[in-house]
Amino acid sequence: MERTFKVLRFDPEKDKKPYLQEYEVPVRDGMTVLEGLFYIQRRLDPSLAFRFSCRGSVCGSCAMNINGRNRLGCETQVSSLKGVIKARPLGHFKVLRDLVVDLDDFWEKYKRVRPYLIPSSPPPEKERLQSPEERGRIGDTIDCILCANCHGSCAVTGTDSEYLGPAALLKTDRFLRDSRDGAGDERLRTVDGVHGVWRCHTILNCQDVCPKELSPTSSIMDMRKKVLKKRESDGS
Ligand code: SF4
Ligand code: F3S
Repeated sequence: MERTFKVLRFDPEKDKKPYLQEYEVPVRDGMTVLEGLFYIQRRLDPSLAFRFSCRGSVCGSCAMNINGRNRLGCETQVSSLKGVIKARPLGHFKVLRDLVVDLDDFWEKYKRVRPYLIPSSPPPEKERLQSPEERGRIGDTIDCILCANCHGSCAVTGTDSEYLGPAALLKTDRFLRDSRDGAGDERLRTVDGVHGVWRCHTILNCQDVCPKELSPTSSIMDMRKKVLKKRESDGS
């Protein structure tokens, strides 16, 4: 059986604007959209550009918009989609070519929240231990694969170029929950602002499209409470 793929094509060096190109792809049981794109690239059109790496929902590289929803190409079964399969690049990002977007802005926001442990005590001789309860407080916030599906689906990131966005905010929450981290006050200061936790309009697209079923919205709401508590204790 063949299925029709329509893939957004754009080469800034020769195209005035993006367009959808149609391909007929023979499909088999268990085939993913990413495998369909491989077929197109290897058998029909070697000029098609898209990102991929692990092919196992771990690296987040193949995030794209498939039939109107941001998803990972490697975990989206062709059989789960009705009609024509439309693959487009993630929204809110500049298209570098075809399905490949410029993620510089995403990584800049990520760097801004200092996504690493900042302990307040000197390094121990061996390791920083954490009890099961302390680990439990981090929960699944550690599971983010940085695919940018959430960032590319949030209407606020599309209108406020300074908004930190759901992924960077979720990452801040992940470290605020970590018993080994000593930079809580600084982290709350980073997210307490009109382009931080207060900018979210609880649109919920972020958690709707997350391939790891995470909830940046809950993280944002939790951090709002922490920010208010801190302001109260500071008397500000
Ligand atoms: Fe991707 Fe989910 Fe992380 Fe957003 S929160 S970057 S959707 S894994
Ligand atoms: Fe955007 Fe998610 Fe908030 S989609 S507005 S970050 S709830």
